[in-house]
Amino acid sequence: MSETTLARGLKDIVLDTTESSYIDGEAGILLYRGYSIHDLAEHSTFEETTYLLLHGELPKRQELADFSKRLVGFRTLPDEVLGVIKLIQSAHPMDVLRTAVSALAAFDSDVADNSREATIRKSERLTAQFPSIVAAHHRIRQGLVALAPRADLGHAANFLYMLDGKEPDAEASAAIDLDFLLHAEHGANASAFAARVTASTLADLHASIVTAIGTLKGPLHGGAAEAVQKMTSEIGDPSRAAAYLKEKISQGEKIMGFGHRVYKAEDPRARHMRGKSKDLGAKTGHEEWYQILEQVEKDMSPYQSRGIFVNVDFYAGSVYALLDLPEDLFVPIFAIGRIPGWCIEILEQFDNNMLIRPLLQYTGPMNQEYVPIDKR
Ligand code: COA
Repeated sequence: MSETTLARGLKDIVLDTTESSYIDGEAGILLYRGYSIHDLAEHSTFEETTYLLLHGELPKRQELADFSKRLVGFRTLPDEVLGVIKLIQSAHPMDVLRTAVSALAAFDSDVADNSREATIRKSERLTAQFPSIVAAHHRIRQGLVALAPRADLGHAANFLYMLDGKEPDAEASAAIDLDFLLHAEHGANASAFAARVTASTLADLHASIVTAIGTLKGPLHGGAAEAVQKMTSEIGDPSRAAAYLKEKISQGEKIMGFGHRVYKAEDPRARHMRGKSKDLGAKTGHEEWYQILEQVEKDMSPYQSRGIFVNVDFYAGSVYALLDLPEDLFVPIFAIGRIPGWCIEILEQFDNNMLIRPLLQYTGPMNQEYVPIDKR
């Protein structure tokens, strides 16, 4: 056998090339198709950024208008899929999202077509359908009727509207729009990688997205914002942060919302969520969460010399909580933001496909003698 290298967790392994996002983990830089995440966060919207990711260039005014109109047109779910959501309404929202995407495959006429054109059409449809699934489930599980989407509202505002039937104010919509945009794409993160593995077998977009949703669910990936919010509630007051962190770290636990496989400087997305958390806290009169988070960040600063800084999830949980969004919707909200990134990673995989199939180094026993069952 030729010589191989063991790379646990595929750490520092470059899987393939991409034109979608650039990450410099040492310098804390993130670009989507060459554009700084800071410029996009300040000037763009989720719709415009999704167009950029899926179609490769910033849209002209008419292109953006047409694209936004297409997304609006795709928001309504088939009744049969709403029926599936009703049947499984007691499941975790991520399980419902995963199952609903599987069900949607049955109603998508392009489902088995892996051409670039069909994959982009399906990507646009799924991007528009994700918020409808999460919102419909949230209402159905409360015994309420799923709301029809509102064509006059943008992607983020319509999602908030479909959750509770109230038109959100501009700040709430802007905060969720920013959150979606910041999560939209992030290279070969675990869920996008998982999606690429599925796509590399030439399974279709829906199958690959189902894989990605399953992978995002875990606390080391999508679940961190929820875990941070739980930690904030447990700490309860900034003065208790240091003792809390000391105890957790002495028990060998990781502090949620800190550390990143790629970033060894501050995650460039974190500053934008920090700003939203602070502003929304001041606006709603609930500054306590921001104050606790700020204190946790200060108390964790000695870890910066080891490359452990806040990541995007650290302040995200407080933003969702300040908008009264329930904790079990935090990961699905991440998924609503991430769907364009998953789609473009799958598209890139299809464009230049090679089956992804690493090796495992066997460490078990050799030359075992088979003993018949009645002699064991
Ligand atoms: N709190 C405390 N210590 C941490 C830490 C954290 N959040 N993240 C990493 N470390 C420490 C580890 O204990 C380890 O220390 P050691 O070398 O003394 O054993 C070292 O930093 C390397 O950590 P490791 O887990 O091997 O790095 P990784 O690249 O595999 O992990 C994460 C990356 C994201 C999984 C990890 O940082 C983590 O679990 N963070 C919390 C979950 C989270 O916020 N996830 C969202 C990511 S966007």
